[in-house]
Amino acid sequence: MTSTQSRESGLAAAARLASLLDEQGYITDLRVREAMARIERHRYLPDRVWLDDDSADGGYAPLDRACEPERWWEAAYGNVPVVTQLDDGRDERLDPHWATPTSSASLPSTVAQMACAAALEVGMETLEIGPATGINLSLIAELVGQEHVVGIEIDAGLAERCRAALAATGYTNVTVVTGDGELGYTPRAKYHRIVSTASAMTIPYAWVAQSHEGGRIICPFQTTLCSQGMVALTVRDGTAAGQFCLPLRFMLLRGQRARHRFDELFTDDAWEATRVHRIDAAPALLSDWDARFAAGLRLPGVHHGQRGEGQWLASENAWAYWDDRHVYQWGPQALFDAAREAVESWEKAGKPEMTRYGLTVADSGQRFWLDEPDNLW
Ligand SMILES: C[S@@+](CC[C@H](N)C(=O)[O-])C[C@H]1O[C@@H](n2cnc3c(N)ncnc32)[C@H](O)[C@@H]1O
Repeated sequence: MTSTQSRESGLAAAARLASLLDEQGYITDLRVREAMARIERHRYLPDRVWLDDDSADGGYAPLDRACEPERWWEAAYGNVPVVTQLDDGRDERLDPHWATPTSSASLPSTVAQMACAAALEVGMETLEIGPATGINLSLIAELVGQEHVVGIEIDAGLAERCRAALAATGYTNVTVVTGDGELGYTPRAKYHRIVSTASAMTIPYAWVAQSHEGGRIICPFQTTLCSQGMVALTVRDGTAAGQFCLPLRFMLLRGQRARHRFDELFTDDAWEATRVHRIDAAPALLSDWDARFAAGLRLPGVHHGQRGEGQWLASENAWAYWDDRHVYQWGPQALFDAAREAVESWEKAGKPEMTRYGLTVADSGQRFWLDEPDNLW
């Protein structure tokens, strides 16, 4: 083999990746860089993985270590997300083009940014939600000490694989349990840090309840309209609050996956019963990511898509459809009007970027704000 793999050890490759991420500005904490340089990523990955399929219209393409060892190695130590499970592992023979990725080794630059945001110190009790391969869990273990780390993975097969990978790489004192991380993990609470590597639309209050005073919760956040944004929350007096700080994208927590109902609700009968109004031109409405993010916070459970020349919005019991001439709205909510109002509010507020928004999670639920916790969005 004349591959990179035959010339390079795992530790050399890990050091190469850590330097690259540092040079590119993803690492703000020297300890994170040093720890990343100690993680031999190839020892955590399965022999078959899936990468973005650039040759097709979206979807994923399988990559087998036995067939393409050099590409597999490059994927293991490249700054790319590596999908490790499709469709909850139901049937790997399915066409990956149509499958949904359900587990992965996260993008290394994101792993680095999340670790820096978590400000992990030796001795901090830390819970990771969704450890999957164990790569991030071993990084956390490097930073806080093995005996202080618990990972909770909902998929029993992945949890088992994760335990085996950690044992094989020497992280024998890290605990991995199978369970629903939305409930936290009470036997080891309270935590100084809770790091979720699955994204949430609703931050579970259990995480707040299981955090120490002053503890931090780091979680990718998304709405049904917009899949970007990490929050870093600090826990005080039974409430967690903090701002959105990074644009990033993750798989959703299993219990928070949401499918749109547009196809079900968009029937001939509904079409006959729509409220219609004319417009002069198709509004740009959700084409700006910051507008989309802000509107998404206001419109939980509302999905967006394209059909033919038009665009649609759909909630559980309503939809809107528009092209460049007409807007059609059906159901108890006027979704087009609601989205337009949300975008107009965002424009009036000076078109704030995602990082000016924040989130407070209390026992009574979560609320969003702009700049200050009292300035509710
Ligand atoms: C993007 S992967 C995590 C990547 C991982 N940290 C790594 O570096 O390999 C998301 C994982 O979250 C898990 N997951 C989803 N919902 C969960 C839940 N409610 N509790 C625990 N794990 C969950 C999935 O099974 C999946 O393995």
